[in-house]
Amino acid sequence: MSELHKGLEGVLVAESSLSSIDGEAGRLVYRGYDIADLAEQASYEEVLYLLWRGELPTAEELAEFESSIAEERAVDEDVLATTQTLADAGETPMAALRTGASMLSAYDPDADADPEDRDATVRKGRRLTAKLPTLIAAFERARLGEDPVDPHPDLGLAANFLYMLTGEEPDDVAAETMDQALILHADHGLNASTFTTMVIGSTMADVYSGVVGGIGALSGPLHGGANQDVMEALLDLDESDLGPINWVDQLTDEGGRVPGFGHRVYDVKDPRARILQQRSAELADSTGDDRWYDYTTTIEEYLTDEKGLTEHGIAPNVDFYSGTVYYQLGIPVDTYTPIFAMSRVGGWVGHFLEYQEENRLIRPRARYTGDDSAEFVSIKDR
Ligand code: SDX
Repeated sequence: MSELHKGLEGVLVAESSLSSIDGEAGRLVYRGYDIADLAEQASYEEVLYLLWRGELPTAEELAEFESSIAEERAVDEDVLATTQTLADAGETPMAALRTGASMLSAYDPDADADPEDRDATVRKGRRLTAKLPTLIAAFERARLGEDPVDPHPDLGLAANFLYMLTGEEPDDVAAETMDQALILHADHGLNASTFTTMVIGSTMADVYSGVVGGIGALSGPLHGGANQDVMEALLDLDESDLGPINWVDQLTDEGGRVPGFGHRVYDVKDPRARILQQRSAELADSTGDDRWYDYTTTIEEYLTDEKGLTEHGIAPNVDFYSGTVYYQLGIPVDTYTPIFAMSRVGGWVGHFLEYQEENRLIRPRARYTGDDSAEFVSIKDR
């Protein structure tokens, strides 16, 4: 049996052409295109097309692809009613998304399709991608006692999400910022939630099971849940009279970790954090409230320069700045991870499909450390 690699650290388990991360250079590419170029020049729908089909679309191909997603945005009223039930029960947004995503399969015309039917899996993946934003927005409005807003047929996925959340069409800055955030979160190699989706797909289970598993994995604070933790920490800092440096010292002196810092693959600053930091600065300028941007950059500088975390390969990851962007867009803090999910569903579906093309059941081993010759004693004699 091979050497033990706890957490599969550094272990290659598959080949993939969807995305590549250079953890030392701090570089991320989707199908060979640098994330900075995609974030600056593409739309989230273009990136979905690229991830799923392996090439950038022509304008005509993109228009057709956008329509194929937009026409699937509506969610069955029974599922919306369940969303209201979950909101009334005080469910968290990620738990409600996990339940809602699972319930969607009952209303999918391809629900009973053969898992080997790749075209059906593509259709189901597209429906999930189209409907998750509708579920997330409806849940948030249900918590506020407001009716869901029907999807807007003429808006892109990002702008439509903000429209369904607020009932108003977003301005260009908000729409572009959300679209860019969705691009940045769409795929990232075999992170925990994507790997979860792949494990489920490797048994030839259906893509709804894979995406529900991915949502569960993403919700953890070591993964997608970190963006919410960062913003909650900054709000805590803002209410204290400590200031960012004393606040960090108090946290780390108590053995705590600064959320949004550190990464299993990046030894340097996450390229997505760089882009989101810039958007956070622009939003601070436009809103005139630079607290959140100042807190995050001061904490980064302190941890990097004074605490020397960078020398230990610990630097800001995507979650460190995403929260300040969403907060300045007026999005509720516990909706940040669902936004991560509605973007990453593109990567989950992409890897699910890619791995099933040359499928091999994922089944690692554990080194057994228990007894191997126990003598059974009847319960009457124990
Ligand atoms: C995401 O994998 C992906 O690609 C994920 C993601 C994606 O797009 O899918 O990029 C999204 O999940 C980003 C990560 C979000 N999570 C957080 O920000 C939570 C805080 N970060 C950590 O808990 C940690 O950095 C992990 C979980 C992200 C990575 O952990 P590893 O690789 O298992 O590293 P580790 O926990 O073993 O830490 C290594 C060292 C330790 O020092 P020693 O105890 O060995 O001396 O780095 C230190 C840690 O103490 N360290 C930190 C730190 N994170 C790690 N020190 C201070 N602050 C931190 N945040």
